[in-house]
Amino acid sequence: MVGKHMGAMRILVTGGAGFIGSRLARRLLADGHAVVIVDNLFTGHRQNVPVGAQLVEGDIGQEATLAALPDGPFDAVCHLAAQSSGAVSMEQPLYDIQTNAVSTLLLIRWCEKRRVRRFLYASSMAVYGNPAAVPVDENAPVSPVSYYGVSKLASEHLLRVAGNSWVRPTALRMFNVYGPGQNLANLRQGMASIYLAYLLKGQEVPVTGSLERFRDFVYIDDVVDAWARVLQQPDTPSLAYNIGSGRPTQVRELLRLLIETCGLPSDHPVRTLSAPPGDQFGLYANVERAAAELGWKAQTPLAEGIRRMVEWAGCQEGKPRAAGGRATAKLP
Ligand SMILES: NC(=O)c1ccc[n+]([C@@H]2O[C@H](COP(=O)([O-])OP(=O)(O)OC[C@H]3O[C@@H](n4cnc5c(N)ncnc54)[C@H](O)[C@@H]3O)[C@@H](O)[C@H]2O)c1
Repeated sequence: MVGKHMGAMRILVTGGAGFIGSRLARRLLADGHAVVIVDNLFTGHRQNVPVGAQLVEGDIGQEATLAALPDGPFDAVCHLAAQSSGAVSMEQPLYDIQTNAVSTLLLIRWCEKRRVRRFLYASSMAVYGNPAAVPVDENAPVSPVSYYGVSKLASEHLLRVAGNSWVRPTALRMFNVYGPGQNLANLRQGMASIYLAYLLKGQEVPVTGSLERFRDFVYIDDVVDAWARVLQQPDTPSLAYNIGSGRPTQVRELLRLLIETCGLPSDHPVRTLSAPPGDQFGLYANVERAAAELGWKAQTPLAEGIRRMVEWAGCQEGKPRAAGGRATAKLP
C-alpha cells in the first residue's frame, strides 16, 4: 500500500539485483511504484531483478554509469549497491571506498543535477566498531574497525553535509540481515547464509572468530518494511536509524538453531578459526529511535525467520538439497 502522503513514485534502487535490494524492489513494485535498478551483477544476479523493474547494468562508482541512467523524473534513490563484506574491505580498501563511499558522492551529485530530493542509504552496524556498551543507540560513538565501516560512515557524513542543501537523506544502519534470497554462494558476507551454505552440503562449518561473539539478526522482510516506511516520509527527524531486532544472539546459538532447523544432528561439526582483521566482537541495536520516529519494530522472531530461510534453501529433515539445486549450485 502506498503511504498516506506519497503517491506512486519512480525510485532508483542501486544494488537491486542483490539480497536486500531485490526484495526491496519487489516490495516497491507491489506498492505501485516504478523501479529502476542499477547493478553491476557482481554479487547480485540478474534472476533476482523482479519483473517490472528496469535494470541498468553498470558500476555505481563510475560517473559514466549515472550519466547513462534513463531520463525522466525520479522521486527517490535507495542506495544499496556496495561491496558488502568487511573482510574483503580489509583486503581491498581502495575498491571498497570507490564502491561504497565514492558512489554515494556521485549519487548525491546526480540527485542535485536531476532534482531528486529523497536519498535512503544502506548503512551498517559496522559504523560502531566495538562499542563500549551494548545495546548501541544512534548517539553512541562511531569508531569503525573495518574499512567497510569507514566507507559506510563516510557515506553518512557525505549525506549529512549534502543534507544541508538539496538532498533529504536517511541512513538505515542495518544489523545482520538474514532470510530467504540471501546469497548462499557468497562465502564472504552474511553469517547465517555462510553457515547455512556449509550445512546444506552436510559439511563442517568453519567459524571465523569465537562462538561467544554475538550479533543482532534482523529478518529481511522486517528490514524491507523499514525502508518502505522511511520512503513514505519526505524527510525523517534524524539522519540515522538502527535497523535491528534489538536482541543479541550468540554465534553458538545461531549455529544451534540452524543445525536443528536443518534437521542435522546436534553434534554437527563446527570448527572455530581465528577472527579476521576488522571483525566486531559483539553488538546489538537499541531500536527505540526507529520505534519512536518511524513507528517501526522488527516483528519476526529469529527461530521463525531461520525456519523460513531453511525452507527456502531446501534443507529438510537432515537431507540437504542435492548439489545442482539453486542453493548449492555455486558453492566451491
Ligand atoms: N546483509 C546485511 O546484513 C547488511 C547489513 C548492513 C548493511 N548492508 C548493506 O546493504 C546493502 C545491500 O546488502 P546485501 O546484503 O543485499 O548485499 P548484496 O551483495 O547481495 O547486494 C549488493 C548489490 O550491489 C551490487 N554491486 C556491488 N558493487 C557494485 C557496483 N560497483 N556497482 C553497481 N552495483 C554493485 C551487487 O552486484 C549486489 O547486487 C549493502 O550496501 C550492504 O553494505 C547489508
